[in-house]
Amino acid sequence: MKRTIKTLVAASIVASIAVTAGAYYGLVNVGADDPHPPAVYAFLAMARDRSILLRSRDIQVPDLQNQALIRAGAGNYNSMCIGCHLAPGIAATELSQSLYPAPLNLTKAGFDRDPAATFWIIKHGIKASGMPAWGKSMADPYIWGLVAFMKKLPDLDAQQYRTLVASSAGHQHGGGESEMHNHEGQHNSAEAGADHHSGEMAGMNHPDEAAADHHAGEMPGMSHPDEAAADHHAGEMPGTSHHDVKPAAAAPKPASKGHVHADGKEHLHAG
Ligand code: HEC
Repeated sequence: MKRTIKTLVAASIVASIAVTAGAYYGLVNVGADDPHPPAVYAFLAMARDRSILLRSRDIQVPDLQNQALIRAGAGNYNSMCIGCHLAPGIAATELSQSLYPAPLNLTKAGFDRDPAATFWIIKHGIKASGMPAWGKSMADPYIWGLVAFMKKLPDLDAQQYRTLVASSAGHQHGGGESEMHNHEGQHNSAEAGADHHSGEMAGMNHPDEAAADHHAGEMPGMSHPDEAAADHHAGEMPGTSHHDVKPAAAAPKPASKGHVHADGKEHLHAG
């Protein structure tokens, strides 16, 4: 018995030295175009799923049938998610095709994580994958809007999707929105006028903004302490450019040849 234990301990010491040495000498290919061996992928997926389950189990889920929530989710989804997770009428993008692990096509039925887990993923992101932690720029009610909208998404055709996005207030989650998007067609006419937030949900509260009734119709209980005018977009994630996908409200043109890349450089593709 004692001997077996000694052998096992020795074997595991040798194995960890081998793994460490392999990593140190660069044998692990970190290239995103080199898939993990199936066993490594399965192990990482297990660790991810168990981690999400543990961390999301006590999250209280609000009423996801709320139409205002769904509409808000549609506008934000169209602005922040389609580059990777696609939309009805958009079959593939540069990002969706080249990330590893690959982002799920959320327009397809089959996404079956429960709402609490979905909320947790959107809020916290997933390490060492392309999935950002949206909670850094978005308050919880807007994240629930995305969760509520995602439940409807697989049932929408391109026309229904565009209509729903057009009925939303576009990219709007109370501060922290990126200006790197092509916003054309994403905001309703209220965006340009003084009543910037007229499409938001009831009771939202922007204490440091000038007009007291500026945000009539926003989401209940929202506060936007970070919405100081000058630095409105500070703290955003660089590189979440969606310029390779035209917003659905403006009729998506994924085949457009010219676009700005995440590094801010604009160029044309040859074909
Ligand atoms: C830059 C690309 C990118 C963007 C933008 C992005 N995601 Fe993701 N997302 C990913 C990747 C990559 C994964 C897969 C991570 C993994 O499997 O480890 C993922 C995973 C997810 C998952 C879990 C899917 C599953 O496997 O169960 C959800 C839900 C999700 N994203 C929602 C969103 C929402 C909502 C938005 C917009 C607010 C968004 N994502 C924006 C790249 C992105």
